[in-house]
Amino acid sequence: MSRQSDPLEQPKRRRPARVAKEAAARGSLGANSNAEQEKAAAIRQLELFARDLKVAYVAEKRKSRELERSYREMVRRLMRAARMKDRETGAHILRLSAYSGALARHLGLPGEEVERIAEAAPLHDLGKIGVPDSVLQKPGPLSAQEWDMMKRHSAFGASLLKGSASPLLETARLIALTHHERWDGTGYPRGIRGEQIPLCGRIVMLADQYDALRSPRCYKPAFSHLEARDILLNGNDRTSPQHFDPLVLAAFGSLQREFEAIYERIRD
Ligand SMILES: [Fe+2]
Ligand SMILES: [Fe+2]
Repeated sequence: MSRQSDPLEQPKRRRPARVAKEAAARGSLGANSNAEQEKAAAIRQLELFARDLKVAYVAEKRKSRELERSYREMVRRLMRAARMKDRETGAHILRLSAYSGALARHLGLPGEEVERIAEAAPLHDLGKIGVPDSVLQKPGPLSAQEWDMMKRHSAFGASLLKGSASPLLETARLIALTHHERWDGTGYPRGIRGEQIPLCGRIVMLADQYDALRSPRCYKPAFSHLEARDILLNGNDRTSPQHFDPLVLAAFGSLQREFEAIYERIRD
């Protein structure tokens, strides 16, 4: 006889252990999907954050490029102002920039710094704006007092360039201040020596000396390349190799043909 189901019979009770297991599985599934959702939300948030950061970075980069462009323009304008006052020619300034860049590159400085030194070097004599014309344009030799006035151009130029956030203008300030200092401490305005003198100043000092030797002055004729080279490397009655950073002087020794070519290429 088949067994009939009794409608009043209670539904078959599942065993408690099985119920617990199913509940645990359901629970863990729920927890897993919650964690997944949270993870996906966090990733989305991070992606948005990264995108905002990139936009801000690009904008910041553009702003700093524009700022650097403005500083460069300011340097060019200051250069023009300096040239209205000083007899030094535009060609001298261009050559100085080329020699200084070549020396900095040969010494292994990073490209950005090489560029900065080459761009800032033309402002080395900016402070001559503050020297009276009677001294600056005097054809003959200067008296001791006039010479003192002339020497002030380093500090004056540095004070004009002081306090800028631009690395270009700061390099120009250091060059203006120290391009007459000498390695052996006999230069001016402060008589500092050796590595107390910033490298950019040591570089521009040698470049400026070479160009001064190649150009006629009231107290001397223009020297040939070979004469100028020998004076820098071996000295004469006014110039001593001790005036120069030995590494910068050695770089000049290696690059001297390039100096000659720059002088020939950029003539007054
Ligand atoms: Fe100078
Ligand atoms: Fe100069």
